[in-house]
Amino acid sequence: PRVSLTGIKPTGDPHLGNYIGAIRPALDLTATYESIYFIADYHALTSIRDRAKFAAYTRSVAATWITLGLDPERTVFYRQSDVPEIFELTWILSCVTGKGLMNRAHAYKAARDRNAESGIADLDAGVNMGLFNYPILMAVDILVMGADVVPVGQDQSQHLEIAADIAGSFNHLYGDVFSLKIPEAVLPSGVNARTMPGTDGRKMSKSYGNTIPLFAPPSQLRKLVRGIRSDSTPVEAPKDPDASAAFQIYENFADPEAVKDMRVRLEQGGTGWGELKNALFETLDAWLTPLRARYDELVAPGSELDAILAAGADKARDRARPVLAGARRAIGVG
Ligand code: TYM
Repeated sequence: PRVSLTGIKPTGDPHLGNYIGAIRPALDLTATYESIYFIADYHALTSIRDRAKFAAYTRSVAATWITLGLDPERTVFYRQSDVPEIFELTWILSCVTGKGLMNRAHAYKAARDRNAESGIADLDAGVNMGLFNYPILMAVDILVMGADVVPVGQDQSQHLEIAADIAGSFNHLYGDVFSLKIPEAVLPSGVNARTMPGTDGRKMSKSYGNTIPLFAPPSQLRKLVRGIRSDSTPVEAPKDPDASAAFQIYENFADPEAVKDMRVRLEQGGTGWGELKNALFETLDAWLTPLRARYDELVAPGSELDAILAAGADKARDRARPVLAGARRAIGVG
């Protein structure tokens, strides 16, 4: 069967954007693909320095996947750091990857741009080698498991192109001895195609601190939804729903009839942003209420999560081992 693979970085609690961009499409693919989903904890190490947070976010990402319906019996589900084969292959592939390709990777470029904007002369200030090498590790995540499709949000598509480039370089040098499949991105479509905005209107992102975490308690969820930035158009005036972050989030979660109705009412005037936000809160809360108890149980220390991840790591290593062995043979070691 064809293989679907994706990962989430534990740099914070998973949020609504992660759900629409990756988790839901990934879970949908489990019906027709062999599914391999993981927690990209060593990717998060490029930015997380707090040991307690690092552990807590890793647990939170794992508990989120299971709560939302990932079946660990039918999915290979693991923590990246439990699979050492990934890191050996990362070294091998970094030796066939041009530095120039990494110079163009957008997370690294964004870090340099931020330094330039702040007037910092050394554009690489604050950039560690983990951040710089990040796309190679991600390429290995994908290639070592032989992924055919990778469900991700728009922001990851450059990384998929880089993974294909790296696979191409290796194949070019070492031939078909070890065949790395060229992975294909599966991006959300329709109303879900747009990158989901966060509470300040920019892309919802853990690094901006503008996220709405999936399993926030109801009081916090209400506060976050109420705090979504909106303009000061008076209630009576016609409004542009497409310019509203709250509406873009609502579009992703409410049923199409309710969305259509809300759009018409906002455009006509007489409906305020407050009413939209109430509807958004109610929609999210109705969906999440039956799930919160399960999440709390899984995320608690000593839950079955540890055994699930340990079993997943065994399955992941079984897959990774022969791929690494093939790469070692191809380059002439071992
Ligand atoms: P991460 O942890 O930043 O995000 C996880 C997934 O959520 C998607 N996403 C969004 N989609 C829509 N709107 C948003 N506002 C939004 N924010 C995040 C992302 O596109 C992503 O699919 N490098 C990856 C993790 C990773 C990975 C991999 C993914 C490591 N190895 C191998 C796929 C395959 C990352 O930082 O995702």
